[in-house]
Amino acid sequence: MAKNTFFECEHCGYKSRKWLGKCPDCGAWNSFLEIKEESKKKNRKNISLSGESANPKPINQVNSADYSRIKTGIEEFDRVLGGGFVPGSLTLLGGEPGIGKSTLMLQISKNIAEKGQVLYVSGEESPSQIKLRAERIKAVSQNILLSGEVVLENIIEQIEKTKPLFVVVDSIQTIFSSELNSAPGTVSQIRETTSRLLFYAKNSGIPIMIIGHITKEGAIAGPKTLEHIVDTVLYFEGDRFQSRRIVRAIKNRFGSTNELGLFEMTSEGLIPVSNPSEFFIGERPEDTTGSAIVCAVEGTRAMLVELQALVSESAFGTPRRMAIGIDINRLHLLLAIIEKRLDYLIGRDDVYINVAGGLSIYEPSVDLGIAFAIVSSFLNKPIDKDTVFIGEIGLSGEIRSVSAINQRLNEAANMGFKKAIIPDTKEKIESKAKNNIELIKVKSLKEAFNLFF
Ligand SMILES: Nc1ncnc2c1ncn2[C@@H]1O[C@H](COP(=O)(O)OP(=O)(O)O)[C@@H](O)[C@H]1O
Ligand SMILES: [Mg+2]
Repeated sequence: MAKNTFFECEHCGYKSRKWLGKCPDCGAWNSFLEIKEESKKKNRKNISLSGESANPKPINQVNSADYSRIKTGIEEFDRVLGGGFVPGSLTLLGGEPGIGKSTLMLQISKNIAEKGQVLYVSGEESPSQIKLRAERIKAVSQNILLSGEVVLENIIEQIEKTKPLFVVVDSIQTIFSSELNSAPGTVSQIRETTSRLLFYAKNSGIPIMIIGHITKEGAIAGPKTLEHIVDTVLYFEGDRFQSRRIVRAIKNRFGSTNELGLFEMTSEGLIPVSNPSEFFIGERPEDTTGSAIVCAVEGTRAMLVELQALVSESAFGTPRRMAIGIDINRLHLLLAIIEKRLDYLIGRDDVYINVAGGLSIYEPSVDLGIAFAIVSSFLNKPIDKDTVFIGEIGLSGEIRSVSAINQRLNEAANMGFKKAIIPDTKEKIESKAKNNIELIKVKSLKEAFNLFF
């Protein structure tokens, strides 16, 4: 091995002098690539995020940034961003191939192009391919400049020359800096190109959006390694084989996280969904067992979601447990509580849980709904279709209060629900929910189940 090379793990960026079969940091096999050591760092004298001198100064003398955001013209997307693109921000949009990243960016470019020029850099598709898509989704505009450039230094030159209002880089994995010797898409390349784009965005005030691919197995040199560099991280979720798409903010330096944007993929591009509850429970079957409606709060919005459970006798000694859209450990915990506190012998059965519509729910207020869906399937008794379940379950089987109870109940009332099982909360219930929904307050899981089964 030559002295001036080293090996780097493609997954996590772990560096080693020797080639290794298995990465000691992330455990990936056969992921080491040989990389030539860079010549000693260039002159870094005048680099600072503000473009001004990097010398420290008192906080009251720092110029406040002018946060007049650039609206994308798509309300669902603006909400996720916290009200539009902040000037000089670097945003990462990640997602599996084919989920709709380029489509969404083209739609946004079209809207922003009404106010000024947009530079769309694509290292993935040729300009004529992009034009074809733009024609299909009606996003042709003379203010959208297409570039097929993949060398970072040339891209920056193009931005400098055209002075656009907004830049899209599709995708970061195809871009490389000519100052590094490693191949495009390797961890060192995407890290370097991203941080150079960050400096450029901050200095010029031009918001830049970068697209990054992730794969099911978890990113190959993926955007995960970029999350701490960029200002905002958005991920596209949802099943590629269905039309529903969800954009979620994982990190946001200029707004709240966990806001969701809901879209439907059509031949005319992504159409925003304004009524999430309708979207998630619209196709729900009636009078089947194992289906319960819960109300989750994501960001600032409450939405009704259907939980589906299937409990069936296990063919093997070790029963299978599977959860799509909720944490599998939460499922194990709830099963243990159900078995211990309610004396249902579920321990030997297979249990499957699914959140209909491809949403992932992380908040505990849906516990009660999960428990009801499981027991409904286990006993083969359907749940009344006009009932919504709200409540967190504690280890001793107690039902704990949840946040934003009024917001949840109002959403249920809007969607025509008649009955709600809720925790015995001290919070005052607003009249809207009170007048339209029969509220049943429960203290424990046992009490709740005795009312139903
Ligand atoms: N003619 C079409 N009609 C409807 N949907 C289409 C059509 N062509 C492509 N799509 C949708 O667009 C998706 C590709 O989106 P794209 O923005 O290229 O994804 P990404 O950039 O995330 O890889 C396809 O998976 C498909 O769902
Ligand atoms: Mg694409």
